[in-house]
Amino acid sequence: MIEDINKINNEVQSFNSSSLDEIENFRISFLGKKGKITLLFNNFKLVPVAEKKEFGSQLNILKNNALNKVKELKSSLAEISSAPKSNTDFTIPGQPNDIGSRHPITIIRDRIINIFSHIGFSISEGPEIEDDWHNFTALNFPEEHPARDMQDTFFINEDIALRTHTSSVQVRVMEKNQPPIRAISPGRVYRNEAISARAHCFFHQVEGLYIDKGVSFADMKQTLMYFTKAMFGNETKIRLRPSYFPFTEPSAEVDVSCTICKSKGCNVCKYSGWLEIMGCGMVDPNVLENCKIDPDLYSGYAFGMGVERIAQLIYEVNDLRLYSENDLRFLKQFSSDSF
Ligand code: PHE
Repeated sequence: MIEDINKINNEVQSFNSSSLDEIENFRISFLGKKGKITLLFNNFKLVPVAEKKEFGSQLNILKNNALNKVKELKSSLAEISSAPKSNTDFTIPGQPNDIGSRHPITIIRDRIINIFSHIGFSISEGPEIEDDWHNFTALNFPEEHPARDMQDTFFINEDIALRTHTSSVQVRVMEKNQPPIRAISPGRVYRNEAISARAHCFFHQVEGLYIDKGVSFADMKQTLMYFTKAMFGNETKIRLRPSYFPFTEPSAEVDVSCTICKSKGCNVCKYSGWLEIMGCGMVDPNVLENCKIDPDLYSGYAFGMGVERIAQLIYEVNDLRLYSENDLRFLKQFSSDSF
């Protein structure tokens, strides 16, 4: 009889199921009215008196084991069914990632850099917070020059200001290097202007500087012609108008034939057929001297262009403010432009 108990106990211990029906069948076949364990209880009266105590206690243990088994399996079943179900539908097509695009000013700046790097210009950068020496004095600005006025320049203190042009980088490059120097300096500049469609308190420039023995005005003109054709197309013409900058002598303003109306006359070129794109000139000997370069030995040219201006002509954007408003409807239109 004890062997029967052990045999049934092994069956109870080894039973496992996660199906409610199977667990119920197990309960009925072991603990139900005609269940194996119930039958053993019914046979209790046949057990010899001497064995009754031992048999009884083994039988009770067996019954408790079976009851516990049913309880355990049922409660682990409840746990599974109450576990949070995943709401993810793995058959739904994925959402495309928004990958953004490059800013039009970055695209145009990189194009300018690319054109000049093909003809041997390297890139140098300088700080946006600049001292008086690099932004004005070394560049031959007279004491009373209007650019030194608070009205035009954001001063931080008497000596420090936000640079008003990238010409300050010219000075830094010349102070550090002896000729030959061939560098372009892209960067952001600041001016104390009221913000409108045509003016902003910050914008971007690319400065160019070439210093060597025997550099002439004709060299500058050829380089600028090469640039404008590469930037705006082979049929583009340039014209140089006399101008004035304290740091170049002679100085000129560079116009390109209107890229929008092809010189026929439109409201962008104000019916002149020409558009101003940059200032340039031969580096003033005083500037060379200020930067410890011998003006009797070396000469050179410099130029500076506004990136927003070039972008305006390429993209026909008529309001400068669009470049800094971060309106995605505007910026997304440049997403397919490579560089
Ligand atoms: N720095 C001048 C400006 O901001 C541009 C310029 C650069 C002119 C180099 C001549 C030579 O207007």
